[in-house]
This record gives sequence, C-alpha cells and structure tokens, in this order.
Amino acid sequence: MNPQIPQANLEALATERGVSKAELEAVSLALDGLSSQVIAQKLGISAIAVRKRLGEVYHKFEISGNGPGKLAELRRILTSDYATVASPRQDWGEAPEVWVFYGRREELATLKQWLGKDQCRLVALLGMPGIGKTTLAAKFAKQIQSQFDYLIWRSLSSAPSLKDLLAELIPFLSNQQAVAISEDVNEGISELINCLSQRRCLLILDDVEAILRSGDRFGRYQQGYEGYGTLLRRVGEAEHKSCLLLNSQEKLREITLLESPKRPIRALPLAGLKPEAAQCILQEKGLTGEEQWQYLMNYSQGNPLALKIVAANIKDLFDGNVTEFVKHQTWIFGDFSEILNQPFQRLSKLEQEILRCLVTQANGVSLPELKQKLPQESRTSDIMEALASLIHRYWIESVSRKNQNSSETLYTIETLVKKYVEKYQL
Ligand SMILES: Nc1ncnc2c1ncn2[C@@H]1O[C@H](COP(=O)(O)OP(=O)(O)OP(=O)(O)O)[C@@H](O)[C@H]1O
Ligand SMILES: [Mg+2]
Repeated sequence: MNPQIPQANLEALATERGVSKAELEAVSLALDGLSSQVIAQKLGISAIAVRKRLGEVYHKFEISGNGPGKLAELRRILTSDYATVASPRQDWGEAPEVWVFYGRREELATLKQWLGKDQCRLVALLGMPGIGKTTLAAKFAKQIQSQFDYLIWRSLSSAPSLKDLLAELIPFLSNQQAVAISEDVNEGISELINCLSQRRCLLILDDVEAILRSGDRFGRYQQGYEGYGTLLRRVGEAEHKSCLLLNSQEKLREITLLESPKRPIRALPLAGLKPEAAQCILQEKGLTGEEQWQYLMNYSQGNPLALKIVAANIKDLFDGNVTEFVKHQTWIFGDFSEILNQPFQRLSKLEQEILRCLVTQANGVSLPELKQKLPQESRTSDIMEALASLIHRYWIESVSRKNQNSSETLYTIETLVKKYVEKYQL
C-alpha cells in the first residue's frame, strides 16, 4: 500500500526543485498509482509526453537509474524529507506570485549557498529599478521556504516607521507570545533578535529605497528612519539562526561597511538577464524579426522591465516586428521613464550633473576629465564621493583602461540610463 503524500507537501517540494505545473500534474497521478497510459488519457497527451515529464521530475530530484524503482525512490524522498518538516508559518504580504521566471540560475545558486551552508543573517539584493530584485526574492523564497519555521514578507514602499514594522513582525515571529510595546526601538530590535534566535525565520523586506533620503549621498535614511540602520547592523552582527533578506535600488551604508565573504552579511548586485533569458521575454510577447533582437538586448542591457515595456509597444505599433522597429534606431521608454524619475530625484545635484556630463562621453571619462568638464567647479573629494555614490546606486560603472605602462579608471553609463538622461534630464 502506497502512503498518501499530502498535496501541499508535494507542491512545496516540487516548487523547491523547480518542477513545473505540468510535471507536477503528471507526477501526482503517477504517485496515485496510475500507469503512463492512464495518465496520458487523463491529461489528453501522449504516453511518451507523460514519461518525458516524469523523467524531468526524476532529474530534478536527482534520481537516476531505470524502471519502476525511480518512482519508489521519489516517494521515499517525498515522505521521509517532508515527514520531519513542520508546516512553517508564513505571511507573504505583497509578495508577487511568480508565474514566469527566466534565467538567474547563478543568482539562485549563490543565494542558496548564502542562506544555506553559509548561514548568512543579512543579505541584500541590489540593482536598478525593474532589474528583477522582487521577482528573484519571491522565486527564491518559494524555493527555500521549507527550511524556515517562519517566513514574513513586507514591502517598505509606504515607508512604515520602524516602530510600526516591529509591531507587525514581533507578534508574528513570536507566535503571538510577544508584542512590541516598547516606545524605545532599540528594545524592539532586541525583542526581534530574540525571535530570530529562537526560531529560524526568513524576513524579507522589499522596496527598502523608499525609506532613503533624497538629494544626498547613497544609502542615507530619511529623517526619522535612522533606526532602520541600527536594525540592519544589529541583525547582521547579533548571533541568531535567521536571515533578513532585503531588496533595494541603492546599497545601504551598513551593508557597504559590513559585507564580506568572511561574515554572514552579503550583497548581491543584480545585472540584467543573460541573452538566453532575455530572449524568452521577447518570445513570450510573440515578437518576430529575431535577427534584430540583439538590438533590444544591447539597448536594455537585459533589464526585464524595460524589455517587457518595449516589447509590448513593438507588438502594438509594428505587430511585433522588431526589424521594423529597429529601422528607427530609437527606444520606447513608456512607463519606464517614470520609474527612473524617482531614483533620479534621489540623487544629489552633483551626481545629476555628473550623469549629464557622462552622457556626452561615448567611452567614459576619467576623474581629471570629469573635473574639467563639470559646469561648476567642485572639489576632487566631492566628485569622488559623488562617483562612489552613483556606483552604489547602480547608475554608473567603473572600468579600467590600460595604457602602455599604466592603467586609468574610467566611469561609464549604461545605454538605457544614458538614453533616459539624454531624453528626460538634459
Ligand atoms: N527572471 C525573470 N524572468 C522573467 N521576468 C522577470 C524576471 N525578473 C523580473 N521579471 C519581470 O520584470 C519586471 C520587473 O521585475 P521586478 O519587479 O522584480 O524588478 P525590481 O528590481 O524589484 O524593480 P523595483 O526596483 O522597481 O522594485 C516584472 O514585471 C517581472 O515580472
Ligand atoms: Mg521591486
């Protein structure tokens, strides 16, 4: 007699292993004891397709060999692995449901290592708007949810005070045993760390840039939100068995100071999607003219949101024909320009000036060149700080240019943000 595997457990484990909905459907029926023929009939597909789906599932569970032993092995893994795992308490807040997810294998592996083997306590996913921080965090959290007793996801987009946030987190993470009553946020943070030490919790804070200050250097908190800095520092440094994962368009100062491969505090800056993954977005939108897709990849630098927006416009304007769009050698920002306006407004005046200066330089500029080109005279140290700040806000990059005997650092701006500044901020 085959033991029944609860559907919820099956789904959770399947998600963790990246099993698709179609594969899950086939494997559920196989676990119910149905033959490939019967499953094929039920699902209206061929028996070969059923076996292919099952084969994929075995592969994802790293089960090799031949014959019926594989199904038995899968059943053994599902029952034994899951029997011991109590159902975690979860509150996904405004976390998005991730229906479609391309690429990011390396990032998922890195996060798995950091939160698993390395037992990291503070991890930041960083990068420009639309690059995919929220999506990656949601996908990853679904994959590892069973390793945590508690999981809570909160967005800081409405800039909640730290006190209000703690008043939500502490009762939840203590199973209503504790409430954040103290007016003193330091005591509240101690109470939170107490929760994080007693149980293994995954705490995800999204849209952290919403509590950061405008017109100043990177990673400074708005007035009244400084306590968040203490929260990050203490959660990163205190001893406990949980993890705070945060998403931000800017690097936080605490992360800059504390991150290190030797410490359980890490930052993962996200670049755009690789071409194979970016192409999937264009395919999904039903675009044609594949020989010109590279233009879209180069322009967007793999930013999935920018790609989705331009793809939707190409669909509307040219019936999806990329070749026709590329003839015009331009770009459609659509809503993406408004999405970039906010982080642009957060920059200091000097940072904005530097960006305006960089867009006119095709191959990047060195610090001395920049000093000359800036409209107002600025101290070298101020320019240095502004450049560092722009790097930590993911607007520019530094590259090393080698001459015969020496090397020089140049500062460059990526195509998409360059065109944005040219079009909307000059
Ligand atoms: N790996 C991916 N595969 C497919 N689509 C993706 C992927 N990553 C992101 N997207 C899509 O790109 C868009 C932007 O992603 P997301 O909201 O995660 O970006 P973000 O970095 O959190 O942006 P913001 O800084 O504005 O919060 C979403 O529509 C999302 O569905
Ligand atoms: Mg986001």
